[in-house]
Amino acid sequence: MISFLFKISGCILVGFALLSLQACEGEPQPPTHLAQAALIPIPAQVIETGKSFSIKEDKQVFLGEDTEALQALAGHISSQWKALTGYALARSKAASQGQNGLHLTLSDSLKGEAYRLSIGQRSIQIDAGTADGIFRGWQSLEQLMRLQQADEEGNISLPTGEIEDAPNYAYRGTMLDVSRHFFTVEEVKAYIDMIAMYKINYLHLHLSDDQGWRIEIKSWPNLTTHGGSTEVGGGKGGFYTQEDYQELVRYAQARYITIVPEIDMPGHTNAALASYAELNCDGKAPELYTGTEVGFSTFCANKEITYQFVDDVVREICAITPGPYFHIGGDESHVTKKEDYILFVSKALEIVAKYKKIAVGWDEIHQAELPVGTVAQYWRNAENASSAVRKGARVLMSPATYAYLDMKYDSTTELGLAWASLISVERGYSWNPDLLEAAISREHILGIEAPLWSETIADLSDMTQLAFPRLCGYAEIGWSAAEQRDWAGYRLRLAKHAALLEGMGANFFRTPEVDWEK
Ligand code: ACM
Repeated sequence: MISFLFKISGCILVGFALLSLQACEGEPQPPTHLAQAALIPIPAQVIETGKSFSIKEDKQVFLGEDTEALQALAGHISSQWKALTGYALARSKAASQGQNGLHLTLSDSLKGEAYRLSIGQRSIQIDAGTADGIFRGWQSLEQLMRLQQADEEGNISLPTGEIEDAPNYAYRGTMLDVSRHFFTVEEVKAYIDMIAMYKINYLHLHLSDDQGWRIEIKSWPNLTTHGGSTEVGGGKGGFYTQEDYQELVRYAQARYITIVPEIDMPGHTNAALASYAELNCDGKAPELYTGTEVGFSTFCANKEITYQFVDDVVREICAITPGPYFHIGGDESHVTKKEDYILFVSKALEIVAKYKKIAVGWDEIHQAELPVGTVAQYWRNAENASSAVRKGARVLMSPATYAYLDMKYDSTTELGLAWASLISVERGYSWNPDLLEAAISREHILGIEAPLWSETIADLSDMTQLAFPRLCGYAEIGWSAAEQRDWAGYRLRLAKHAALLEGMGANFFRTPEVDWEK
């Protein structure tokens, strides 16, 4: 290809055989270095080709394989594209590769969530083995578009090149406690949009605790009418009808996020015990609770009705949960006798298996025999998690000292707690799940989850202040290989996410650890 360069009255004209590109002095140059893009999580491999792609012209989404999942995804992508650029993205069935547009193609050579994103000067191609992988590729593209930002005419220029990418762990999650404070369907949807941007693929909802029961159970209606009627501090609480919950499940599914429901038991159950006297060993219902103590409540492990109750709750929730997991809690049951705890957890695990789900529980569940495939969530006690591993469990890594989103950033943070540690953005980012505990190694680890407990947060603004930017770091630990992660490079990339986070409505913490870009 012949190239030549003229300078005409303050403008540089660069001509190529087929393409010419004009830029006046003072105008921003289109980006040409894909490897410098501030993507979080950082992709496995980036090859830049040194040109740029302009989004301005009319484009179409072409579907390589016209599956239902890709159709739905193309619908999602075109509406996001319109929202970001103001330009409509037309939809069309399979087209030849050279055609202008965005090509979504299922390809046998890639597996699971792995994807290839190829940005040419005229068209963009996302290849993956599954719709899930195509979605992850789209998240990289959407992030690139948001990082570049549109000019006044809605034009966005992207650097050309190819990204090859695949996740480090299969499970990359966050937990939201909707029990200590209730969050509306709209607030949870907003959070889902934000976490999807960083390739989080599981949202664990902590649906019950001492302070509130948040999911309608049709066979035990008092759980929500009474048990859902308050929250920490005495507010009015709230709950999701089964239709609300299904709406959240669908909303998350459309963003390739799986909901993991948790009913915490046998402790953390005051809201249920207050709703049904028969669940208490003494047959007396306690008052509702709006404080923040833990460890004072328990189901009665020796009553038949307890297991009828657990069966009904698990059955109703499993029936509206397409994902593979059901979380039984199991933490801080300080007033349950050890033999009662083991009996209760064993029976709860059997019930979860009966409804064809994989059980997850906090690390204390190691005391019971664990069916093959059970997941122990390591939060506090490495010995517990190691014992679960010896019993054949897989581990979800949520060490409170590194990964709890409700810990304060520093001593001046107003929201949050500090019992585990202060967790700066650097501390939250700079650890390796594979190396944290000698007895828990790579082959035992299902993934990482960052829990957000809600004793001190009451709305989306509070929620996002504690979650962001730390969750971006957990997302990178979950997705990107350890060799690619380093704080010095990460903080420079994170600095470029201020406008992106703000644009999504996150009231993120502008930590002084990062020199945020305007
Ligand atoms: C927990 O933080 N109680 C699991």
